Amino acid sequence: MPGLHPDLPDTEFRALGRQVIDLLAEYYATIETEPAFPACEPGVVAALFDAPVPEAAEPIATLLADWRDKVIPNSSRQGSPRWFGFVNGSGTQIGALADAMASALNPNCGGWRASPAATEIERRTIRWLAELIGYAPDCGGVFVSGGTMANVAALRTALHARATWDLATEGLQHRGDAGRMTIYLADHETHVSMLRAVDLLGLGRAALRQVPSHDDFTLDVAALERMIDDDIAAGMHPFCILGNVGSINVGAIDDIDALADVAARRGLWLHLDGACGALGGILPELGPHLGAMARADSVSFDAHKWLGVPYEAGCLLVREAEALRAAYTMHATYLLPAEENEYDGLNYFEYGPQLSRSWRAFKVWMTLRYYGAAGIRTFFRQTIACATRLHEQVAAAADFEVVQPAPLLYIYSFRWAPKALRGDDKLLDRLNQEISDELQRRKIAFAMTTRIHGRVTQRLSICSHRTTLADIDATVEAMRAIGAERLAAHGV
Ligand SMILES: Cc1ncc(COP(=O)(O)O)c(C=O)c1O
Repeated sequence: MPGLHPDLPDTEFRALGRQVIDLLAEYYATIETEPAFPACEPGVVAALFDAPVPEAAEPIATLLADWRDKVIPNSSRQGSPRWFGFVNGSGTQIGALADAMASALNPNCGGWRASPAATEIERRTIRWLAELIGYAPDCGGVFVSGGTMANVAALRTALHARATWDLATEGLQHRGDAGRMTIYLADHETHVSMLRAVDLLGLGRAALRQVPSHDDFTLDVAALERMIDDDIAAGMHPFCILGNVGSINVGAIDDIDALADVAARRGLWLHLDGACGALGGILPELGPHLGAMARADSVSFDAHKWLGVPYEAGCLLVREAEALRAAYTMHATYLLPAEENEYDGLNYFEYGPQLSRSWRAFKVWMTLRYYGAAGIRTFFRQTIACATRLHEQVAAAADFEVVQPAPLLYIYSFRWAPKALRGDDKLLDRLNQEISDELQRRKIAFAMTTRIHGRVTQRLSICSHRTTLADIDATVEAMRAIGAERLAAHGV
């Protein structure tokens, strides 16, 4: 049997590439007009792809047809101007093309030797991001899959830096230190990724100490100090404070300066979960809220959220690069250079949990250069203006209820609650869920509910660079109309 040569001849590869670009262009051409969420059912979609293992090679035309006829019609358009679900970035075109370029070069970004240019670009991108948000430019940093892994990576670094024993050797089996290593975070708004972090690190969920929060959903710093004192008296070992920089439901930003003061006084690590909001440090007007980020030991954020870089693009910054390296360093002879004195550059496998790594930094580097900081500021301000418009609409209406302060970022929660119905929480919970479901069913927008103080609440994450004020107005009007309709349908 002749050997299989997997590469196409040059002209065929170019022709195929053009076909793929045409398909992508078709997708972008309808991204603003097609519904954000497709009309599809899980079982029906599964059946479309229910095929046996392909033993024989298939024609490329069939594969591309499947993309057009099966994948696209059954996909969410997270880049739609009316996609308000989760905290999903909108996906920049330059990022998508950069991903293809990174995949073609296919460097393994675990070590410098396998990826000299890619490593230096990652290093430079991390430095740029730190500079942009006002963090130490010579910090350590690493790209990971997302905010969850960035939080895991940060907690491991914090644990390593603050453990009073040799954590690398003894891990959490250390017996001379019977106390529990504890982490402090706000009780209302802290993201579920912290559960994943303590699960993976073997700390146990009881290590997460929930500190009461204020009415504006920020952590109560006086209560934090009291809880730390009580815990120390009870034999625990506080090692980390977690601050929110853009919380998941209301975009709350903790008092970072005050948290940094407590961390400094107590010798604790301060990690900021800025998955949603830390990149806001690029906006000078957010300085009063974000200016103190530079005082944190570590900050995590997602370039795949607000910045719209295609998944996955989480990032962790650690002020002392050596603390990051110390937490992840490991050695194996097959990873070392042939000559001991040979310059080997920076090996990212020593700065994070992965060994083999894709080139996530490239799409971020390309996005930053393509738009420039000025372009990104304009886009960020547009999303904040949309969230502010939403707040203004809600605050001015008799049939909506404000549940949070005016938004600082692009995430905003509120309730449909005509004055006459307030107090009937059961009915309002039901109606708010129905509004959200109907909005999707009628192909107006994709939004989600959450619970705030136990009540079903509308929650919009306005992350798309394609969203305009008109989209916000249309969504509010639709919610209002659906609310009134559903109320009548319930016979109230
Ligand atoms: C505050 C916060 N932290 C962490 C995460 C986790 O990020 P990822 O989904 O990228 O793992 C999210 C995701 O929405 C978040 O909002």
